[in-house]
Amino acid sequence: MNAAVDETLARALESVALPGVLIGHRLISPDDAGALTVEEDASLPSRLPDARRASGAARIVARELLARMGFALTPLPKAPSGAPIWPSGIVGSLAHDDRIAVAAVARRAATDALGIDVEPAGPLPADLLDVVATARERLVLYRDPGLGRVLFAAKEAVYKAISPLDGVFLEYYDIEIDLAANRAKTRHGRTLIVNTICTAHVVVLARLA
Ligand SMILES: CC(C)(COP(=O)(O)OP(=O)(O)OC[C@H]1O[C@@H](n2cnc3c(N)ncnc32)[C@H](O)[C@@H]1OP(=O)(O)O)[C@@H](O)C(=O)NCCC(=O)NCCS
Repeated sequence: MNAAVDETLARALESVALPGVLIGHRLISPDDAGALTVEEDASLPSRLPDARRASGAARIVARELLARMGFALTPLPKAPSGAPIWPSGIVGSLAHDDRIAVAAVARRAATDALGIDVEPAGPLPADLLDVVATARERLVLYRDPGLGRVLFAAKEAVYKAISPLDGVFLEYYDIEIDLAANRAKTRHGRTLIVNTICTAHVVVLARLA
């Protein structure tokens, strides 16, 4: 067994495999900050060890995925916006919670925008729900309060997909998620497909429809 892998999550990620999109994960390990290149390290605003460890873990995953696409040892520094800088012709996204780092990558031929988020499963605090959910989404959450965390992760994944493409800032209210239809719409007119995994972690992948 690979110590850096959550077997249940690995199986769940395989179940949402999409043509042309690679997704991977890693259990964040104590030495993962050591995977950061000098350029990546300098681009990270946070000096906190936990944040740097998580960012290193996400880049280990992303580099493994890029290697499967033929890219060798690719540095992935952060742009001033916070988004990672991908090799030419590639779109991708990184995320981490306290335990897990995830990454998704694709060629631009497959999609122009890709976003991923991971959250520990569990209810979203009520005060956060008020900030995150639109009136229509609250009707869904009223019937199934457990979906709050999924909704939150979906909006973050959508933001990570769209912000590098359109250079826009989106508030939670600027994104409407329809979980039954696997769709997200942004206030500025983008429609995305959202795929969701729920294990001990919620993972949401968003891509342009
Ligand atoms: C992008 C953002 C949503 C990430 O959320 P987070 O909970 O802090 O952290 P996550 O673990 O989910 O994701 C972190 C990764 O997001 C990526 N990221 C950060 N800013 C990004 C951006 N503008 N576009 C795309 N990806 C971005 C980075 O790869 C980062 O990993 P790194 O620090 O190792 O490079 C948040 O940092 C942000 O910029 N928020 C402002 C916009 C917002 O919150 N709007 C309301 C939500 S829709």
